[in-house]
Amino acid sequence: YGDFDFIVVSNRLAVDRVTDDEGNSSWRRSPGGLVTALAPVMAKTDGAWVGWHGAPDEALDPFDEGNMRLVPVPLSEDEVELYYEGFSNATLWPLYHDVIAPPEFHRTWWDAYRRVNERFAKATAASAAHGATVWVQDYQLQLVPKLLRKARPDLVIGFFNHIPFPPLEIFAQLPWRRQVIEGLLGADLIGFQRPSDASNFLRCVRRFLGHTIRQQQVQVPADGDAPAYVSRAEAFPISIDVNAITELAKRQDIIERSREIRRELGNPKHVLLGVDRLDYTKGIGHRLKAYGELLEDGSITVEDAALIQVASPSRERVEQYRLLREEIEGAVGRINGTYDTMKNTAIRYLHHSYPVEEMVALYLAADVMLVTALRDGMNLVAKEYVAARTENRGALVLSEFAGAADTLRQAVLVNPHDIDGLKSAMVTALNMPPAEGIRRMRIMRRQVLQNDVERWSQAFLTALRNGSAGNSDA
Ligand code: G6P
Repeated sequence: YGDFDFIVVSNRLAVDRVTDDEGNSSWRRSPGGLVTALAPVMAKTDGAWVGWHGAPDEALDPFDEGNMRLVPVPLSEDEVELYYEGFSNATLWPLYHDVIAPPEFHRTWWDAYRRVNERFAKATAASAAHGATVWVQDYQLQLVPKLLRKARPDLVIGFFNHIPFPPLEIFAQLPWRRQVIEGLLGADLIGFQRPSDASNFLRCVRRFLGHTIRQQQVQVPADGDAPAYVSRAEAFPISIDVNAITELAKRQDIIERSREIRRELGNPKHVLLGVDRLDYTKGIGHRLKAYGELLEDGSITVEDAALIQVASPSRERVEQYRLLREEIEGAVGRINGTYDTMKNTAIRYLHHSYPVEEMVALYLAADVMLVTALRDGMNLVAKEYVAARTENRGALVLSEFAGAADTLRQAVLVNPHDIDGLKSAMVTALNMPPAEGIRRMRIMRRQVLQNDVERWSQAFLTALRNGSAGNSDA
């Protein structure tokens, strides 16, 4: 047995390489919503985080940071290609997001996925104290729960899927569908973003394994020496670190920066904003198409309106992401080429990632936030925008295919495939009477402020330990 009573396992270990004055480099924990949410739990118990540190072909010893132990899991260059870029992001990612891009099925990718999941399970088992609680995160590690249960039946095991779980008819394509479901069922509690994700999963369990299900509880039968047990599937919609965002949104220098951004844009009447990883699930192309048509029919002009599109680089070695980049940059070029003047630009396209301070300044500068994902587990950008709007102004255009749409009902909800609908949603948001905008934003802010990420992790962990019901954000 290891020493730790609480262990989080995720593909990425949240660490950054830092180099001191003498040129020695070391690793330090980087902030992120999940880490912030779990840090208090880590501090109270003896906590450890197991994950890949992001550098291929580099082994790294475990180290302590703050109140937690970080346990790096090494991946070879080959494994990065087959397990991470391949099976995780060119098989599972598109399969779980409504096959917006065609998933590829390769046996060599699956073999690597299995091998890497085994390595994560081993590292976790070696760190966990007797009876410890382990919380496995996301689609890259779906086999870990079963592997862990087999190696360490004393553990309490939770799993949370941050992305959608697809309908049975789509999941059925996966050649290894049984193994993946069995892998997940190793957990005592399997958390999903939306109730529909949990029910999709349970349908797959019934169809492909034939287990009995009663009230979201799966009766997993005994298997050789391993006894029968119950595994549950429930929704726990994730959220953001609300305090971090609202504190930044009140900081004078950040408010000043948001004004400066508007000045730099030439003080247009309307500022619209999109913030996404450059990913085909985000509906950036649909958004640009609608925006281009609004410019074409004169509903908006480059003098009156400026669109800022932040597209942060992501998974750049995966073919579909390369194709997407060409497509989006082509679309931006065509629109700007057609409508720009010497003075004004239709779309400010920024292929960068920014620090959170600049993101909050952008949220403050934007009258309208565009979240038009074709499929998204939750979409935390929508929640961050709402949290940042401390004066209750501004409008959110939100895709009904993002998990956030379950709770942010006062957004201007859209089906992004419907380009006319998308155009009229943008026009509605741009022309929303101030009183109506404030009314809607106030309700959404209350919702987000009451359900921050710490509440999410508490709800999940309480349910894991007590067997109580989820749906914390309902
Ligand atoms: C999504 C996934 C995460 C992933 C993140 C960034 O939010 O749910 O598991 O870490 O995208 O993607 P990356 O491939 O860079 O880790």
